[in-house]
Amino acid sequence: MIERSSITELLETYDYDNIKIGVVASHSALDVCDGAVSEALPTLAICQKGRDKTYSKYFKSQRSIDGHLRGVVDEALIYERFDDVLKPENQRKLVEENVLFVPNRSFTTYCGIDAIENDFRVPIIGSRNLLRSEERGYERDYYWLLERAGLPYPEKLNSPEEIDELAIIKLPHAVKRLERGFFTAASYQEYLEKSLVLIKQGIITEKDLDHARIERYIIGPVFNLDFFYSPLDQCVELLGVDWRFETSLDGHVRLPAPQQMSLPKTQIMPEYTVCGHNTATLRESLLESAFELAERYVRATKKYYEPGIIGPFCLQTCVDKDLNFYIYDVAPRIGGGTNVHVSIGHPYGNALWRREMSTGRRVAHEVRRAINLNRIESIVT
Ligand SMILES: Nc1ncnc2c1ncn2[C@@H]1O[C@H](COP(=O)(O)OP(=O)(O)O)[C@@H](O)[C@H]1O
Ligand SMILES: [Mg+2]
Repeated sequence: MIERSSITELLETYDYDNIKIGVVASHSALDVCDGAVSEALPTLAICQKGRDKTYSKYFKSQRSIDGHLRGVVDEALIYERFDDVLKPENQRKLVEENVLFVPNRSFTTYCGIDAIENDFRVPIIGSRNLLRSEERGYERDYYWLLERAGLPYPEKLNSPEEIDELAIIKLPHAVKRLERGFFTAASYQEYLEKSLVLIKQGIITEKDLDHARIERYIIGPVFNLDFFYSPLDQCVELLGVDWRFETSLDGHVRLPAPQQMSLPKTQIMPEYTVCGHNTATLRESLLESAFELAERYVRATKKYYEPGIIGPFCLQTCVDKDLNFYIYDVAPRIGGGTNVHVSIGHPYGNALWRREMSTGRRVAHEVRRAINLNRIESIVT
């Protein structure tokens, strides 16, 4: 793990009048860039050739002498592959340009957590050591943290034989490795039948199935709670709430039952691939419980993952019929759904800050405040 002290040393070479916000150009990068521009910080996006145009063309910024005209990406660096950003000369460029890097899921997926922990010598806004907790199955993964924090999560079943009511089986997709090969089963028999079909169809592999997480399926709406922890103020903020469009699940729920039953074999089991987001609010009486979840999570990260969470994080929850929250996933970084409040902010973030406050803007705002307070080292690792 790259020592925090060596990042602090690196900061001594930084020109605080010319800080740039860097990000891997995917996932929530537009929100990050938009927020940075709103706080008058220039942006740099690491793009991969062939999937760069959103950033290098359509949202590329064009500035005139009298100020900002349009777009949010000031510099789009196009590499053959995202992980080229790890090359020493490319890291050097980021440091020379005074870049503070915002880690998103694409960064951890395409660059790899080992490399981020040990080789990526660029200041990260967030907690470098916590990123690994997202890897389900890792010894000290987010479930481990939730357990220690006394936070509610869907009950784990230790073997498929234990399935006695609806359960979800979580494993990667066999072909689309970055996507999910999730399925549900309400009994061991159903588990056997479905898994056999999915293996035959090449959607999952037996090897992944052996390591799958099996947990109770929570019947209820899903809410991704987009929080922010400010090390400067030592307080938790709820900025927004989003929920996902998942294919093919959302197609299924838009069909009446008889039509669902008539789907072909290859479509009968829904997939859970995220392809969009929507915004949501919580009934007010649930807000305090939501904050309590975040407070506990923050405390646990401070205790077990020193220095603890920094900046944005997302608790992915389901709410059951008795209005209990269950956390089924935790992103210890900016969530993938924060684009729902790009530029317009979100009711909660806006209410708190009295202006449009998206997650991206909140990150940049923290940078601004840290610069003014001469405390940048408090928000990076
Ligand atoms: N215990 C659960 N009960 C009900 N739905 C769940 C549960 N766990 C996950 N899901 C569904 O599966 C989706 C993806 O789950 P998640 O654990 O976040 O996977 P990933 O780690 O791949 O993001 C969620 O958006 C939700 O729709
Ligand atoms: Mg998730």
